[in-house]
Amino acid sequence: MTDQALPADAALPGKPTAASRTTLSHIMTASETNLLGTVHGGVIMKLVDDAAGAVAGRHSGGPAVTASMDEMVFLEPVRVGDLVHVKAQVNWTGRSSMEVGVRVLAERWNESTPATQVGSAYLVFAAVDEEGKPRSVPTVLPETERDRRRYQEAQIRRTHRLARRRAIRELREKRTAEGLIDD
Ligand SMILES: CC(C)(COP(=O)(O)OP(=O)(O)OC[C@H]1O[C@@H](n2cnc3c(N)ncnc32)[C@H](O)[C@@H]1OP(=O)(O)O)[C@@H](O)C(=O)NCCC(=O)NCCS
Repeated sequence: MTDQALPADAALPGKPTAASRTTLSHIMTASETNLLGTVHGGVIMKLVDDAAGAVAGRHSGGPAVTASMDEMVFLEPVRVGDLVHVKAQVNWTGRSSMEVGVRVLAERWNESTPATQVGSAYLVFAAVDEEGKPRSVPTVLPETERDRRRYQEAQIRRTHRLARRRAIRELREKRTAEGLIDD
């Protein structure tokens, strides 16, 4: 993971957020439950990764791999029979990476209430070529105030990811230089 963002490829035309926004819907089944009888968190994470991957592939026009997933939050349990909607969009783009924001909503099978938000996550995808090497992506063009807010918030998360990684690397180098070795 590069510490300094390289500039986006100016030769690639930008793409609006709406061009790749995607919703994946799924009815939860009994085979997807944990010991408590509610849906296993890992099943929801898989749906989140699937939806985000579809968005990243659409935006970048080719293969994209998950580089990281952070801030996965489960707000409420999902139950068997619930119709789950996983809504994903590109929040931000770098040179070869994209932050995809995902919201998870559940329509309760036994209630006539509007869908409730049950989770959310942010994933970073890297677009890759045939050899698995990072390739340039089109700059995302936020269209609405909500998209612009999400873009700005994604930039904050990107700055923090890079700073945290750099700080940990520096700490490890310092400990190694001091002769401190993990047991
Ligand atoms: C993601 C991957 C392509 C990055 O390759 P790399 O050689 O480290 O390349 P770079 O350092 O140039 O990173 C490419 C981009 O991804 C971003 N990136 C890489 N690792 C990241 C991480 N852990 N978190 C956030 N962003 C990350 C970089 O910041 C860079 O963004 P930019 O081009 O927009 O500035 C590579 O680590 C990989 O193939 N990982 C496995 C992915 C995979 O198989 N996922 C499925 C899980 S089974």
